[in-house]
Amino acid sequence: MDAYIYLISAQYVSQARFRDVADALVKAAPVEARAVRLETSGDGLWHALDDLTARLATRIELRPIGLPFSQSLEKWLPNAAASWLARQGENAPELYFATSLQTDLNVIHAAANAKVALRPIAPKPSGELGKGWDTPPAFRHHLLVCAGPRCHLKDAPNLVDALRAELGRAGQSSDCLVTTTGCLFPCNAGPVIVHYPHGNWYRVETMDDIRTFVSGALRAGTIPRSLLIHQTGDIHEPA
Ligand code: FES
Repeated sequence: MDAYIYLISAQYVSQARFRDVADALVKAAPVEARAVRLETSGDGLWHALDDLTARLATRIELRPIGLPFSQSLEKWLPNAAASWLARQGENAPELYFATSLQTDLNVIHAAANAKVALRPIAPKPSGELGKGWDTPPAFRHHLLVCAGPRCHLKDAPNLVDALRAELGRAGQSSDCLVTTTGCLFPCNAGPVIVHYPHGNWYRVETMDDIRTFVSGALRAGTIPRSLLIHQTGDIHEPA
C-alpha cells in the first residue's frame, strides 16, 4: 500500500485551524494519508510512520506543505525519518521525501491568483493593541517549554498538556506562566523545559519526569538533578 504523510509547519495556528487543513488534505489525497503538525501540538512524524506501517504501508512519501517551507526542516526531516527507519525490521516501508511546493510553478500561480473572499478594513486608531496586553501577569515561575520540531518529535507538545494538568493538580497553575517556544538549541537532550527566574534547564520526557519536576522545582524549591541538563551561565566545552 502507498501512503502520504503531509508535513505542516504552523506555529501560531490553533489546533482547530490546523485540523481543518489537515482533514482536507487527507480527504483529497489519492492514497491513504496522514497530516502531521511539526510543532506545538498533536502526534508527530514517528507516530504517523508507526501508524501507517501498522496498516501495512510499503511505500510512504513525506510531503512538506507550506509556502515557503523552512529550509532547516527540509534538511532535518529526512534524517529524522531515517532514524525511524533504522529502528524498523525487514518489513520497513520505502520512504521518500518530496520536494517542497515552492518549486511548483502551478502551485505558486494558483496561490497568486486564488479567488478568495475579501473583508474591508476600516481605520481603527491603536488597532494593534489588545485587552490584557498591558502588563505581565502575576507569577513566580516562568516555564519555557520547547515545542520546536525536534522536541515535538519526542512528544513535547503532549508533555505541555500533561505539564499544565500536573500544575493544576499541584495547585501551581496561578504561580506559573507556561510559554511554549520554538527551538531552544539543545534538541538532542530534549524535550526541554527552562525554569526561570532560576535559569535551570531540564530534560522532561515522561509523566514521572513531569511529576518530579513539578514537585521538586516548583513545590519544594529544589533542583531535580536527575532531569537537569544545564544552568544559564554555564559554559559547555564543544564535544
Ligand atoms: S527543538 Fe527543542 S531544543 Fe531544539
